[in-house]
Amino acid sequence: MTILCQLATWPGETTASTVDDLDTALRALIDDPAEDLVVVGPDTEKDESLRFTAHLRIDRPAVGVILVRRHVDVDLLTEALRAGVREVVTAGDDAALLAACDRSRALSGHVRAVDEPMQTPQGKVVTVFAAKGGCGKTTFAINIAAALAAADQRVCVLDLDLAFGDVAINVQVEPLRTISDALPMGGHLDTTGAASLLTPYRPGLDMLLAPVTPGDAEKVPAALVGELLAVLRGMFDFVVVDTPAQFSEHVLTAMDASDHHVLLTTPDTPALKNMRITLDMLDLLSYSRDIRSIVFNRSDAKVGLSAGDVERVVRSTISAQVPSSRNVPISINKGTPIVIATPAHPVSQAITRFARERLLSMTAPARHKAFAARRGAGRR
Ligand SMILES: Nc1ncnc2c1ncn2[C@@H]1O[C@H](COP(=O)(O)OP(=O)(O)O)[C@@H](O)[C@H]1O
Ligand SMILES: [Mg+2]
Repeated sequence: MTILCQLATWPGETTASTVDDLDTALRALIDDPAEDLVVVGPDTEKDESLRFTAHLRIDRPAVGVILVRRHVDVDLLTEALRAGVREVVTAGDDAALLAACDRSRALSGHVRAVDEPMQTPQGKVVTVFAAKGGCGKTTFAINIAAALAAADQRVCVLDLDLAFGDVAINVQVEPLRTISDALPMGGHLDTTGAASLLTPYRPGLDMLLAPVTPGDAEKVPAALVGELLAVLRGMFDFVVVDTPAQFSEHVLTAMDASDHHVLLTTPDTPALKNMRITLDMLDLLSYSRDIRSIVFNRSDAKVGLSAGDVERVVRSTISAQVPSSRNVPISINKGTPIVIATPAHPVSQAITRFARERLLSMTAPARHKAFAARRGAGRR
């Protein structure tokens, strides 16, 4: 739409709103951020018109101002140009006014395109970590990924357990393409390249698998992990990162890029000790606690440590308790995550609830918070 200020006749076919003064025009602009043209009629005072234009040039550069004047001379043109008026048109010259309006609208389109950088959707990165092996990282990572995919999210599992990754075996897919294939793309990875690395598992759920031979793990630079995550988050709603049981540079790179950290523990003292060390380490590195969840896996295992014991040791609240069940290893041996094989199983329900309440509900600013905190730590 076009705003007309004190313009008696409007030759245009498009609808326009008429206002009596520039203050009202300004309010109309504030009300409608998509508005991109103001035609100022000959009865509006010249200096006021130029001040209005100069203000808009800074505040709303996409909005064009066209001045209609009874007399147009060089002085007026110079002044108008300096204030940022797009065109000055003689009153009554309808053809000139309409042509000027068309040119201004075209220019506004370009200004907007440059002004508003392309909005690539930014998926969320979730890193699942435990400093002790066997806590259930891989199981949990794959199952939250499956739960998110079941909620219509496009999900990718990235297996960062580079030396001993077992995402492929857990879902029984053949690792024909792995992170190793990304090596030649380092430094110029794009979506097409990343897509060629993926192993599709089910609709909405893809895997980026770990190298097949442990020796290849050493060839993968940590920077490539950052690059992969940056590209993958533009392709998926969620990227779930499975990790090895150690704070490698690769894991820290993933944590830097993460919107959420899921830390797992089981009810045994070594796992708890390592969880405590992990939390201290994450605090030391200034990762935000707001993006952290503690998951108590095999919570009902009858070994004497309760959820209360865990919370006391880790001095944090548990976000989810996943019971122990032999159906979990059974589902792995069959190559189908339990949330897919048996959605009603208590393990599946606990995992799905966690995915819904802690992950699906995430908001974009959380990521920025995590990043800001990490940068503040000065590690980069
Ligand atoms: N909630 C559970 N109940 C029973 N077994 C589980 C549960 N979670 C994991 N497991 C089993 O524990 C073993 C280790 O799990 P895994 O996910 O491979 O751990 P990590 O990746 O942390 O080393 C697997 O055999 C898996 O089946
Ligand atoms: Mg694992």
